[in-house]
Amino acid sequence: MAKISILGSGIVGTIVGRGFKEFGNRVIFYDIDEKKVQNLRNSGLDSTTELSNAIRESDISFLCLPTPTKDRKIDLSYIRSVTENLARCLKEKNDYHVVVVKSTVLPTTTEKVVIPLLEEHSGKKVGPDIGVCVNPEFLTEIHRSWTDNKSYARDFFSEDRVVIGEFDKRSGDVLQALYEPLKVPIIRTDLQTAEMIKYACNCALASRISYWNEIYYICQRLGIDSNLVAKVAGMDKRIGKYGTIHGKAFGGKCLPKDLDAFISFSEKLSCEPKLLKAVTEINERIKAERGVRE
Ligand SMILES: NC(=O)c1ccc[n+]([C@@H]2O[C@H](COP(=O)([O-])OP(=O)(O)OC[C@H]3O[C@@H](n4cnc5c(N)ncnc54)[C@H](O)[C@@H]3O)[C@@H](O)[C@H]2O)c1
Repeated sequence: MAKISILGSGIVGTIVGRGFKEFGNRVIFYDIDEKKVQNLRNSGLDSTTELSNAIRESDISFLCLPTPTKDRKIDLSYIRSVTENLARCLKEKNDYHVVVVKSTVLPTTTEKVVIPLLEEHSGKKVGPDIGVCVNPEFLTEIHRSWTDNKSYARDFFSEDRVVIGEFDKRSGDVLQALYEPLKVPIIRTDLQTAEMIKYACNCALASRISYWNEIYYICQRLGIDSNLVAKVAGMDKRIGKYGTIHGKAFGGKCLPKDLDAFISFSEKLSCEPKLLKAVTEINERIKAERGVRE
């Protein structure tokens, strides 16, 4: 049995925390939102508004904090502030503690932002004293999504695979042991590859939606049934059906913000993301014409 703390008990934090609890681990939820903490308590879950309690009661902490996009840039203020405070709590602990970045963060964030903050504010070393992993979340909630098709839903228990980006083998081994009961492939990488995999996934999903919307517009102009076209094209297993939403924009909590942040990140690297910009343009056009399905 592992002792886990969930730092940020929103959508991702609660789903992941409940999942680990079902596997028999001890889980404590932390959030600044007192109402959320009270609701979790009311449903019988151990929860607190005191970060120090959560850290004292756990050996592994999952950062499940918001990473919104502001002015086309990822806002890391939630991650920074909780990581700093977490590090201060670790100063008071003697045992090895693993910090897992579950939030979606751009490649190199864990190495350049999270690790330096942990070391600076704990006075300890990542490696011998503190373990660090990146463990992107792939859940999709259908009620928030552009589709009603439940086969696209993903939650803790229906992941296709688990991705573990690890600072070192020791950190990755701790996380792998937690996920073993899921019995899905576990892929271990370095930190930035795991961060990149999450953006590669969200950008691919968004691209498919814009692609099929482009086909939809052309079908409409010609009076062709786009449903039939997509259905038959999707019978080819290389293509599948994902993204065929016939003139609806994608919205939701993740795809637009992650796409925006990733486009400006790629531009800064002088890698012009032409396709991803077109994906956004198509989506913006549909959003303006027809509204967005959240
Ligand atoms: N929602 C999804 O479907 C989904 C899927 C995959 C990845 N993600 C990523 O996971 C991360 C979390 O997303 P979410 O949807 O769970 O967000 P959310 O807004 O539902 O939850 C975030 C929680 O963090 C809490 N919080 C904010 N500041 C805090 C602080 N200083 N201390 C403690 N708690 C604090 C908030 O009160 C909230 O409960 C984001 O990076 C997001 O991009 C989300």
